[in-house]
Amino acid sequence: MRVLVTGGAGFIGANFVLRTLETRPDAQITVLDKFTYAANPHTLEPVAGRVTVVRGDIGDAAVVDPLVAESDLVVNFAAESHNDNSLRDPSSFVTTNLVGTYTLLESVRRHDTRLHHISTDEVYGDLALDDPARFTEETAYNPSSPYSSTKAGSDLLVRAWVRSFGVRATISNCSNNYGPYQHVEKLIPRQITNVLTGIRPKVYGDGRNVRDWIHVDDHNDAVWTIIERGELGETYLIGADGEVDNRTVVETILRQLGQPADAFDFVTDRPGHDRRYAIDSTRLRTELGWSPRYTDFDAGLAATVDWYRNHRDWWEPVKAGVEASYATTQRVLN
Ligand code: NAD
Ligand code: DAU
Repeated sequence: MRVLVTGGAGFIGANFVLRTLETRPDAQITVLDKFTYAANPHTLEPVAGRVTVVRGDIGDAAVVDPLVAESDLVVNFAAESHNDNSLRDPSSFVTTNLVGTYTLLESVRRHDTRLHHISTDEVYGDLALDDPARFTEETAYNPSSPYSSTKAGSDLLVRAWVRSFGVRATISNCSNNYGPYQHVEKLIPRQITNVLTGIRPKVYGDGRNVRDWIHVDDHNDAVWTIIERGELGETYLIGADGEVDNRTVVETILRQLGQPADAFDFVTDRPGHDRRYAIDSTRLRTELGWSPRYTDFDAGLAATVDWYRNHRDWWEPVKAGVEASYATTQRVLN
């Protein structure tokens, strides 16, 4: 199978490429990636001989079309992915997440190529901490941020192209991923690398916001399950029952790195900060037979801490720039 992985040099896309090489050695993989600040060119270096890498924009039809024409499957991970950035400047979110997805859709429509579109649970908005409900495939879209609204829009484009033009596509909406190769702007790698560089971790607001954590390999195995066994035109939610609040995540990282659990700062909250995400992945589990392998979050987190400890050369070059940028908008409260 010839697989085009868009955004394959970013966190989840690169892990997808590496996992696919392990689990499906016959797959011929081409990565199309713009190599924005979020891509790390070193991630795919060890597999350079086994993967074709094209530097280009999913919004550029002249680049996209020939690649789609020679693929059996497109898996679209390419996106602007960070909420905080979308609050500073939403423009690239509109261009990549909406116009980029539109460009891909027109191309897979022209060539009748199968598409799997990667999306997020944030399209459903948020839940109260004491709400017994979790998101399901039937939950109404209600996104909060420029990031999540452009992802919601991209999902709706895919659904419309399925219904109106018969495009062969599936969508998955997953909860918060953790694992190796995640950019240090995101909560878990930011705080691990803060501790490793002598900076106190930074927790937004009261630290009680809840995220539903899943290991990136579990996400990517679920994506392959949907590609191979999912029904065309359908949406599947991916989650591993991993609800934890941010304060607990940071305290756990501190303990795992041998620091006092209270050695962190509270900083100004993210505007419009979603309170809680929680996924009910019953459909994926019962209809398609997927289940997560990483069910012990503390153990998965400890392995991730070790990965960052042992791969300083991967993240150190960008660490200071990320912290300098955060310092312009975030004030310590304690
Ligand atoms: P990331 O920011 O780490 O990687 C995104 C990749 O897309 C980068 O390599 C970047 O260079 C590339 N890219 C950006 N704009 C592009 C463009 N115009 N053309 C081609 N490539 C472009 O993001 P991630 O965390 O790996 O997320 C991947 C996908 O998964 C996104 O669609 C995101 O919405 C979704 N998602 C992420 C999470 C999470 O927890 N990180 C959870 C659910 C869904
Ligand atoms: O739910 C899926 C989404 O998860 C994906 O669609 C996004 O691409 C991905 O970035 C992630 O979004 P979040 O906004 O939840 O992730 P982030 O790592 O930015 O923040 C996680 C939580 O931690 C959130 O409540 C904000 C908080 N936070 C974040 C940072 C960076 C802190 O308290 N301190 C921080 O320094």
